[in-house]
Amino acid sequence: MSLKQWDKKHIISIRDFSRDEIDFVLKKSRLMEDKLSSRKPLELMKGLILANLFFEPSTRTSMSFETAMKRLGGKAVGFSVAETTSEVKGETIVDTVRVVEGYADVIVVRHPAEGAARAASENIKVPLINGGDGANQHPTQTLLDLYTIQKEYKKIDGLSIAMVGDLKYGRTVHSLANALENYDVKLTLISPRELRMPVRMVNGLRERAIEVKETTRLSIGKADVIYVTRIQRERFPDPQEFKRVKEAYVLDEGILPKLRDDAIIMHPLPRVSEISPAIDGTRHARYFQQSRNGVPVRMALLCLVCGVDF
Ligand code: CP
Repeated sequence: MSLKQWDKKHIISIRDFSRDEIDFVLKKSRLMEDKLSSRKPLELMKGLILANLFFEPSTRTSMSFETAMKRLGGKAVGFSVAETTSEVKGETIVDTVRVVEGYADVIVVRHPAEGAARAASENIKVPLINGGDGANQHPTQTLLDLYTIQKEYKKIDGLSIAMVGDLKYGRTVHSLANALENYDVKLTLISPRELRMPVRMVNGLRERAIEVKETTRLSIGKADVIYVTRIQRERFPDPQEFKRVKEAYVLDEGILPKLRDDAIIMHPLPRVSEISPAIDGTRHARYFQQSRNGVPVRMALLCLVCGVDF
């Protein structure tokens, strides 16, 4: 695949990626992880600046992009509290990004409004990466999720994947389901009735011949990958509805005898109560490893969209 096609590419939705493109990013991420583990300082992005514009809270996405840029020899600027920016004076995200393109070589945006990243990218020339837009998309999380799965099983095709929790508002599961349309997997969607994955997405998966089972029961006994999500309190219009479902599923020691020996438990984090800390030390837990994988994957992506060969 030509590196040229990645130069200045906006990364907005995983739906914009073909399977070849996803596989290419995963391959480059492996290369980057090898470079990272050599512990030699990298200067691939020396002289370049990343702008991290976070209009919504973040620990992992924001810090791992900053770490990625600094590990590559570049610098990072930005904000993590929208209240300290000119948004409070009425500036639009589109204008903010047009201004920041004058300061930085690549921009990451997280925003609560679905479609904000796409709209912001339309009038700028520097690459813009969506760090999460409302309940819509989180493409770089998906790439690191796929990277984690592939690292574990050396493949994605043929796996049985269970998604558990908030499948209505969780952008990570929306992005991941979109990406998995490109692979030969079986999906079990486990959620309270109120938090089912949107019907159009389930239909989209089935149209791509993915075997999809929807259930309210925590049936994870056959899964290779159990992808657990937090119930997204901040996206509920009605706090009473959140209260009813907030502890719908809790993975604790009780589930261990039901799992396949080699099953892995993933979570984009942060977790609240849906995975007990008692699971953390078991052979199934991969969520902290998953979070660490964000660094090589984002390093690879930053290089690709900035036209830096490696
Ligand atoms: N997984 C993830 O997006 O975490 P943050 O909200 O901390 O960035």
